[in-house]
Amino acid sequence: MKQPTGFWSQLTRPIYTLAPMADVTDAAFRRIIARHGKPGVLFTEFVSCDGLCSPGQTNLLKCLKYDESEHPIVAQVFGKNPETFYHTARLVSQLGFDGIDINMGCPDRNVLKQGAGANLIDQPELAKKIIAETKRGAGDLPVSIKTRIGTGKIVIREWISHLLEAQPVAITVHLRTAREMSKVAAHWDQMHHAVELAENTNTLILGNGDVWNLRQADDLVKQTNVDGIMFGRAILGNPWLFNRDVVYEDITIEQKFATMIEHAELYEKVFGDEKRFVIMRKHLWAYVTGFNGAKELRVMLEDTENAADVRAVLDKFRSAHAQLF
Ligand SMILES: Cc1cc2nc3c(=O)[nH]c(=O)nc-3n(C[C@H](O)[C@H](O)[C@H](O)COP(=O)(O)O)c2cc1C
Repeated sequence: MKQPTGFWSQLTRPIYTLAPMADVTDAAFRRIIARHGKPGVLFTEFVSCDGLCSPGQTNLLKCLKYDESEHPIVAQVFGKNPETFYHTARLVSQLGFDGIDINMGCPDRNVLKQGAGANLIDQPELAKKIIAETKRGAGDLPVSIKTRIGTGKIVIREWISHLLEAQPVAITVHLRTAREMSKVAAHWDQMHHAVELAENTNTLILGNGDVWNLRQADDLVKQTNVDGIMFGRAILGNPWLFNRDVVYEDITIEQKFATMIEHAELYEKVFGDEKRFVIMRKHLWAYVTGFNGAKELRVMLEDTENAADVRAVLDKFRSAHAQLF
């Protein structure tokens, strides 16, 4: 049995985590998820280490907001300068996070241009230095990695071997190359490589990509022997994803409406004027699916600018479609 450090040692196995997703898994949505079906670990959206070490820090700190209900909560960061990773890790530790995760998989053009994200897969020596400096700054906080299986071609064995030399507490492997973005099916047939390589280490291995529900995750754990699974897009419109007592298909429209209002109100409370409501509207649309009139309701939600608007639109829809309730 592996002996991971920090909060990772306390988690129920298999470890099911919520993926970091920029403009999706913000503090408001994470709190909604913590209330309706809490995963083993929550991650923040990724934040730039260089940005956090610049005068722009104040603006970026909104990405590192969290509340007590979210523990264990891990801050995810990206960059390419070992020095800013060191300072960021110190900051993350002071802010009371339970861990720090390094993004070594992002295929976004803006991130790659900075030499960060998936670029590090092709620079293993720099990647190891970054992990070492992050550990130095993090003190007792466990340092984990989220990555992909290559940039252009699949190099999972070489790459995971390099990462294991730096002894991170956990590696989440998104089973696609950077070039594949999310356009092809995740290569779950590659998972065993990482699992085998980490077998006699204390590094936990988590798989990620195209996992849509707990049943599928349970099967994948059995088939591949991973220590855990990270869920990404499956959480959209479904904060009940990690709740074994809830069957998504049984959730009533009324429950969805109540959650939409709860979420929109929390979004306002957490972010005030800091974040535009357009981000919240994406969530509203994601909730509105699987019932008659869903398409019409999505259009009605297009002009909402705050939680009061959402409530008004839902009331109007309810009056016009009384037979659905
Ligand atoms: C909108 C969006 C934003 C994302 N932002 C991040 C991020 O900030 N950090 C990160 O490591 N991965 C990010 N990802 C990748 C996801 O964490 C995850 O690896 C990917 O969606 C595959 O998992 P899935 O098939 O379960 O969705 C993002 C993905 C999406 C769709």
